Amino acid sequence: MKNGAKWQDVDGKDIQAHGGCIVRFGELYYWYGEHKGAPNRPGKTEVDVIGVSCYTSRDLVNWKYEGLALEADKDNPESCIHTSKVVERPKVLYSEKTGKYVMWMHLDNWDRTFPAAGVATSDSPKGPFKLERAIFPNHQDSRDMTVYTDDDGRSYLFHSSNRNKTMNISGLNPELTDVDGSCVAVLVDQEREAPAIFKKGGVYYMVSSGCTAWEPNSALYARVENLLGKWKLIDNPCEGENYRKTFFGQSSYIFEVEGKFYLMLDHWKPNDLQSSGYSILPIEVDERTSEITVPWQDEWLGV
Ligand code: DGJ
Repeated sequence: MKNGAKWQDVDGKDIQAHGGCIVRFGELYYWYGEHKGAPNRPGKTEVDVIGVSCYTSRDLVNWKYEGLALEADKDNPESCIHTSKVVERPKVLYSEKTGKYVMWMHLDNWDRTFPAAGVATSDSPKGPFKLERAIFPNHQDSRDMTVYTDDDGRSYLFHSSNRNKTMNISGLNPELTDVDGSCVAVLVDQEREAPAIFKKGGVYYMVSSGCTAWEPNSALYARVENLLGKWKLIDNPCEGENYRKTFFGQSSYIFEVEGKFYLMLDHWKPNDLQSSGYSILPIEVDERTSEITVPWQDEWLGV
């Protein structure tokens, strides 16, 4: 699959899974993301909400469309997932406690004046997910976000907050359906979004973007030894042509396969969002110096 380009599923159709995540449940990898398969709203760099797609794969290259795991509400304009609104960056976890799959996402009004975190649950990884609630985690706004489960089993919502000025880390309850009241603000006043987290060799890493809407900017990584400690921005990990613009991409998630980590990027096309492309790039970690690099690769060939 050519990095930076549109990708197709096993039926030859464009993959619609933007701002997404790849997670493994059982034998399969699941790719969840925003279905943007419609023309932009007239004169806008937005599309109507269709829902959250689910694709499955055994090899991370051949993806089968499983349908909408979460479908937009077409009827009720008050619904937080009505077609007229914003549903972005879905991330899915499995709760050992309840046996349910839990999807977190950024919900918003069409004009982005209601920046909330949405929670949906399902008995099956393919859905259907049902929206349970939209919250302002710990009374804070929540725009770009991701979720991360630590080695001790505790999960966290990382969300751009304070009008994108600060990244907040809010602890989740054991059911993974709500925040538990714990919250720390990190990267204060650094204006980062699109967070993606992993841990290697006792160090946590966060790759994020700057805040320039759909336009690419320099990725930066931050690191810390205590997840809730003082995260420090280090450098742009990208290497290769166009590294200063993150290869014209933006981080969406980092997934792990057998101890190696892979960065997912969206290559947004603001005026034709449904044609936005993808990349998956291996992350190189120097465990001696705790420095990471993401060299450009023309193709994603799987692991
Ligand atoms: C940047 C975010 O990362 C995207 O998910 C999207 O919300 C755009 N901003 C909208 O401008």
